[in-house]
Amino acid sequence: MARAQSRFVCQACGADFLRWEGQCRSCAAWNTLVETVVTVRSRDRRPATAVPGGVAPVPLSAPAEAPISRFPTGLRELDQVLGGGIVPGSLLLIGGEPGVGKSTLLLQVAGGVAGAHGGVLYATGEESAGQVRLRAARLGLGAGPAADAVAVLATSEVGAIVEAARAARPAVVVVDSIQTMTVDELDGPAGSVGQVRESALRLMELAKGEGIAVVLVGHVTKDGSIAGPRTLEHLVDAVIELGGERGGVMRLLRATKNRFGSTDELGVFEMGEAGLREVADPGRAFLAEHEGVAPGSVVAATLEGTRPLLVEVQALVAPAGYGTPARRASGIDPTRLALILAVLGRRAGVGLGSHDVYANLAGGLSVAEPGLDLAVALALASSMRDRRVDPRTVTVGEIGLLGELRPVSGLDRRLREAARLGFERAIVPAGGRTPAADGIRVVPVGSLRDALRAALLPSDEFAAIPIEPETRVLG
Ligand code: TYD
Ligand code: MG
Repeated sequence: MARAQSRFVCQACGADFLRWEGQCRSCAAWNTLVETVVTVRSRDRRPATAVPGGVAPVPLSAPAEAPISRFPTGLRELDQVLGGGIVPGSLLLIGGEPGVGKSTLLLQVAGGVAGAHGGVLYATGEESAGQVRLRAARLGLGAGPAADAVAVLATSEVGAIVEAARAARPAVVVVDSIQTMTVDELDGPAGSVGQVRESALRLMELAKGEGIAVVLVGHVTKDGSIAGPRTLEHLVDAVIELGGERGGVMRLLRATKNRFGSTDELGVFEMGEAGLREVADPGRAFLAEHEGVAPGSVVAATLEGTRPLLVEVQALVAPAGYGTPARRASGIDPTRLALILAVLGRRAGVGLGSHDVYANLAGGLSVAEPGLDLAVALALASSMRDRRVDPRTVTVGEIGLLGELRPVSGLDRRLREAARLGFERAIVPAGGRTPAADGIRVVPVGSLRDALRAALLPSDEFAAIPIEPETRVLG
């Protein structure tokens, strides 16, 4: 039996309390408690287990179960991020800012799955069925066997979705978006913590109980978290985030949680007239296309999961006006930038203390990998000294506090990709094995100072910025 109760639920963390309080005692957020009618279920309810097939303990050495079966989505890049495809009975959450292309992506997935692997129920609380059909037609999904196998259900009632799914038994149910969904028994408005959590729980029961993969769309708030309770992230099997530069065409797909695969694969798409398109050559996608490279541009050979990606770092250094000099980074961790600036000044004689500093990655990519350090440092020094770096040179290396360069993983793979894309020279950390890469000259360097010497071309004749005297290092 279930009974209804009034509780005060924190909209930030999902904790609930019997009384209203100004500050949530669980997550310390202010003014986040909202009165919500919650249904307390009786204790004999069978819990939905994430692991199918009983609760008896098994030794680790027990014979392996059949490998996880998966079906492809029709989008190779998404499959790679998921770890090989959609696992039947799994619950996925696709997050992203409004307008980034979540609905487009999932409609394409619906088309890719439908017919080949079973039907798809596309439930939407955001658009009318007519709007979805119009969009499908634009994506080339207006007619044919795949279009026949996708059923659109415009509703915001979870009960209706569960009922339709139990009747039609599709392979995949898409719920766009979880913030528009409500459960009849609850009073709170759509998007409130209680509704979001209970809706997701019921859809999880559908997924685990019927072996239907359920994909939830979640809007992301300004601060970057998926709106609604954090509890949603614990509930689902995988959280996939779709991101990209506003106004740009590149779209990046990353798993921030994945029970069925790794979380460091990156998917790259382009948003075009007919929806999201896989990029033919992702290794090249983040190299800005321009002739005659100016000072401040350096190419890094990074590794995203198993995929080598060549990325152009662009830096601009300019004398600061009044006040604290600006430090702006886009796609680069600001604390990493601060460290690189400090090492450049103290260990390599490139003091930027009285300069404004801007550093970006081309194409809206963001890279957290330490192998990017060297390219950032070289780009800053290149701009500061107004000396170019040869555009056919790639760089990779982590910078230590002493100004030394540390080896990175997967050097062979990075250099092979660089060679394939026509780069001729690679500046890499000395120490460790020197990799063999056909068609690329490898220059091992031990310190940032040596890297500067190897990378910066002779001064351009218009070099105007005075070069600061080298900082002396005691020791
Ligand atoms: P949408 O999938 O509605 O975003 P979300 O569901 O994440 O809010 O995508 C909306 C944007 O994508 C919209 O600005 C138009 C653009 N778009 C294209 O550029 N090409 C297309 O083929 C489609 C369907 C959308
Ligand atoms: Mg949408």
